[in-house]
Order: sequence, then C-alpha cells, then structure tokens
Amino acid sequence: MPAAPLVGARGSAPGRSGGRTMPAAVNPTRLWGFTGSATLPGSMQPEADRQVTIVFDTRHGNTAAVAQAIARGLGHVPGVTTQLVFVQDAGYRHLAEADLVVVGGPTEQLGESHHLHQFFSRIGGYDFHGKFGFAFDTHAGSGIHGGAAHGIAASLKRLGVEMLSPNASAITVAGPIGTSDSVKLSPGTEAHFEQLGEELGRALITAAAKRDAANRERAAGAYPAD
Ligand SMILES: Cc1cc2nc3c(=O)[nH]c(=O)nc-3n(C[C@H](O)[C@H](O)[C@H](O)COP(=O)(O)O)c2cc1C
Repeated sequence: MPAAPLVGARGSAPGRSGGRTMPAAVNPTRLWGFTGSATLPGSMQPEADRQVTIVFDTRHGNTAAVAQAIARGLGHVPGVTTQLVFVQDAGYRHLAEADLVVVGGPTEQLGESHHLHQFFSRIGGYDFHGKFGFAFDTHAGSGIHGGAAHGIAASLKRLGVEMLSPNASAITVAGPIGTSDSVKLSPGTEAHFEQLGEELGRALITAAAKRDAANRERAAGAYPAD
C-alpha cells in the first residue's frame, strides 16, 4: 500500500522541506512510515476517493508526531487518501484538492504559531465552502494557558470550511527538572490520535456522501429531466 506523501520533504536533504527549513527535531523519514490509504473488495468500495490534507506546524517534533498519528488512523479507512504538508510549504492548492482539511500546530504565546498565522494570511482571500475541517493543537500540560486549536478552527470557518468534529488537544510534558530530557507527548497520545484519525475518516465518508447527494439533488432541480 502506498505511503501518504509528505509534501516538500521527499527527496530533499534531512531537515529541509521543499526548500524550507524543517525544525531539526523533525526527521522527515519518521513522517513517511504510515499507510496513506486502504482498499476494499469492489462491492464494498465507497463511491469516491476522499482526499485529506493535514497541514501542521512544529518546532520540536511533537505536533508532527500527532499529525502523523492522525494520518495513520485515516489510513485505516478505505477510500481515504491523506497527504501531510509542513505549514511553510502549504498553500491554496493543498486545500483546494482536499475534502477534509486538518490543521494543527503547537500553542505559542497562548495561540497559534507565527507560521500558522502566516499560512492563514496566505490563503485568506480564498473560499473553501464545501470542505470539511478539523483543528488540533499541542500545548504544555500545566502552568501556561491558551490553545492554538480554537483560533485555527475560527480561521478555517472564516474560509467557509465546515468543522467535522470538535477540536482536539495533545499535552506535552517536560523531562524531569535538572535533566536535559526534552519536551515529549504525554503517554498514550499517539494511540489516541490514531483512533481519532480513524473516526475522522469514517465521519468524512458519511458527511461527504451526504454533501454529494445534496449537490446532485440541487443540480437535478436546476436541470430537470425532460
Ligand atoms: C515559544 C514557545 C511558546 C509557548 N507558549 C505556550 C503557551 O502559551 N501555552 C502552552 O500551553 N504551551 C506553550 N508552549 C509549549 C508548546 O505549545 C508545547 O511544548 C508544544 O507541544 C510544542 O510542540 P512542538 O514539539 O510540535 O513544537 C510554548 C512553547 C514555545 C517554544
């Protein structure tokens, strides 16, 4: 089965993505190790292939790992194809070709990261009505407040995207005080987000089929048969 592509990073030097600098903590090869789509026998095939684009930012690799876990979960759902796109490489095209747009990033200064903010500025003039969305963030477990997902969801809605499922957050924890252990996802996070990815994929199949049926009905009303 084909692995879902990581846009911009394949074939480029480690630490680079499509000419942009990927954070050193993010090893692109780590992001390729999941199945991007699954297949079923002909009679069980859903009516159309559904495309998912996951746009993520990350500074230390934790949000990338969550994005990858969601992609793995989506890969369990027949008829769903997923691409992961690093935020600095993401643009109109990646959203235009998607039925479901998933956007996630680390919480920074209580909200979305600078690169996510720039991303939404780049695509701010476009209309993405008819697409489904999902927002997630990672944030520190205690002491600091805020979250990026709320702002991400608001930005997606402003673009006309219909949210498919409530936002989700992952918590990161620092290593023990006095050690050089870096910030990590709390235990079980990746399994939880893989499950969530699968649920999102199933919700997408149902919602997109309804959307397509409504569009067909509208088109039939506009052009009645003789
Ligand atoms: C510059 C900076 C600002 C941050 N601001 C917040 C914040 O306001 N609230 C919070 O909960 N966590 C904050 N954090 C913690 C990160 O959101 C958290 O560690 C995140 O999971 C890192 O994701 P990443 O590994 O993908 O970069 C901040 C981290 C950095 C580096």
